[in-house]
Amino acid sequence: MMEKMIAMLMLLIFKSGSVSAGSSVTFENPNPCALKGSSVHLSCSYNYPDGETVKKTAWYKGKLINGTWTRVKLSDLPSYQDRYRYLGDQQHDCDLAIDDLQDNDTGHYYFWFDTQMYARRSKESVYLSVIELSARVYPDRVRAGGTVTLKCRTSCQLPNTVWFKDGRPVAKPVFQAQAGDSGNYLCAVKGQESVQSDSVVLDVQYPPLNVSVEMSYSGPLTEGSSVNLSCSSAANPAADHYTWYKASGSSFSSLLQVGSGQVLSLPSVEASHTGLYVCQARNPLGQNNSTEVLLTTGDKDINRVIIFVGIGVKVCIGLLLPLVIIWAWRLRRRSTGNKEENSRDYENIGIA
Ligand SMILES: *[C@@H]1O[C@H](CO)[C@@H](O)[C@H](O)[C@H]1NC(C)=O
Ligand SMILES: *[C@@H]1O[C@H](CO)[C@@H](O)[C@H](O)[C@H]1NC(C)=O
Ligand SMILES: *[C@@H]1O[C@H](CO)[C@@H](O)[C@H](O)[C@H]1NC(C)=O
Ligand SMILES: *[C@@H]1O[C@H](CO)[C@@H](O)[C@H](O)[C@H]1NC(C)=O
Ligand SMILES: *[C@@H]1O[C@H](CO)[C@@H](O)[C@H](O)[C@H]1NC(C)=O
Repeated sequence: MMEKMIAMLMLLIFKSGSVSAGSSVTFENPNPCALKGSSVHLSCSYNYPDGETVKKTAWYKGKLINGTWTRVKLSDLPSYQDRYRYLGDQQHDCDLAIDDLQDNDTGHYYFWFDTQMYARRSKESVYLSVIELSARVYPDRVRAGGTVTLKCRTSCQLPNTVWFKDGRPVAKPVFQAQAGDSGNYLCAVKGQESVQSDSVVLDVQYPPLNVSVEMSYSGPLTEGSSVNLSCSSAANPAADHYTWYKASGSSFSSLLQVGSGQVLSLPSVEASHTGLYVCQARNPLGQNNSTEVLLTTGDKDINRVIIFVGIGVKVCIGLLLPLVIIWAWRLRRRSTGNKEENSRDYENIGIA
């Protein structure tokens, strides 16, 4: 009787206790780290005495319920539905995969199996850390030429991180900022580039570059016509002061200031406006000059040709108009009167 009770007790202890003697569960990496949004593969193997046959397996998550740590079957947690896959079997493999990892997937995971003799749960757990990448740029605003350092931080050690600027790979995480380096930067783990950090903005400031002048009119200008010269530049912050210079005569040694503002407006061009123009663009970081542009006023002969052509057209119209009127009048008469009479009229008119 006493022996029977002890045997029962033993059975109960084994049924509910940790993996019993002769059985074991081994996790290849008990502290895996995985990126939020990625998938994790937990490698696991288990052993039990020969002669037993595994009937059921399950994975559990440690959950704090009313102040007590409790193991809850993944299949009973709605948030894991369609996200976990048992990759093991009913022999010795108990691998588990979890997809599309969420922050609250962080925690302890336990394996459980049941043979026809005993159910065993793993004493040890796998502690999964779901991490996020955090991108930082130091400093986030820098003058061209200054050193910039990109840092990709995570709460646990990750092998290699890579950087992207506006979708393109960045060669080095430490560099001397150039005008074109302004943009959005983010980091990712090498080999898992689809899981990315949020992006950070780098603002590289520089004095005006590529200062250029555009003329509203190309080619020689006729006197009296209007032309606008507009100045543009690449600058950060944008250029806020513009000064226009004109080379007086042929020498560049004497530049005359002829205006300010982004557009130099010449509403009525004169011969004296002919010359080389330069625009100076300025922002708080410095100033730079455009290459010179040549403004030429057209040859007056061209005007004369245009006037002569105009006169010619007027004369032609003056001569042709009466003939056209007479021809139209003749047509009208022809439709109502005698053909021979009209023919005579025509001849008379022709002679006249
Ligand atoms: C994890 O968070 C999601 C929403 O953020 C929630 O629906 C889910 O129940 C949580 N899962 C667990 C196991 O707490
Ligand atoms: C200036 O012009 C060059 C040549 O066209 C170009 O490569 C460069 O990106 C420009 N710089 C800026 C800041 O736009
Ligand atoms: C002026 O601009 C040119 C390119 O447009 C650049 O190479 C040069 O360094 C600039 N000069 C200054 C003083 O910023
Ligand atoms: C020049 O600019 C002024 C205003 O800035 C505009 O009224 C005028 O039409 C422009 N002229 C030409 C030729 O583009
Ligand atoms: C631009 O031209 C002005 C006027 O000649 C000059 O004072 C200035 O030094 C020039 N700037 C540069 C960057 O060459």
